[in-house]
Amino acid sequence: MNDPTHDPNAPRYQVLVCDGPSCGVMHESERLEEHLAGVLSQDPDLEGRVTICRYTCFGRCDDGPNVFVHRLAPGEDPYDEPDPDVFDRERGFYPGMTEETLVRVVRGHVRTGEPVEDLVDDY
Ligand code: FES
Repeated sequence: MNDPTHDPNAPRYQVLVCDGPSCGVMHESERLEEHLAGVLSQDPDLEGRVTICRYTCFGRCDDGPNVFVHRLAPGEDPYDEPDPDVFDRERGFYPGMTEETLVRVVRGHVRTGEPVEDLVDDY
């Protein structure tokens, strides 16, 4: 069986966690980020393919805490903010995340390359 997590050329992802005033302060998105980092630290294959970054605001504050999973292009810096058109081009917006749903999103989206349909939303 071909397991993409053992492929050094497997796609890498950036997980943008909103830390704006609503997601960050009211919905404590930092807790999500810390939980996800802990889960990734137990999974070296996934950890090597995922970079967690903070993002200022997706403009969907009432739905927070919100996250966007962005597939990195070859050579793209995982710590740079993506071009804004990424949000229109890719289906990776996940509103209202909990610790449990965020882990499910990252495992599902990164391992399959496809959005987690019951959690993804139009941006
Ligand atoms: S503060 Fe998170 S979407 Fe605005």
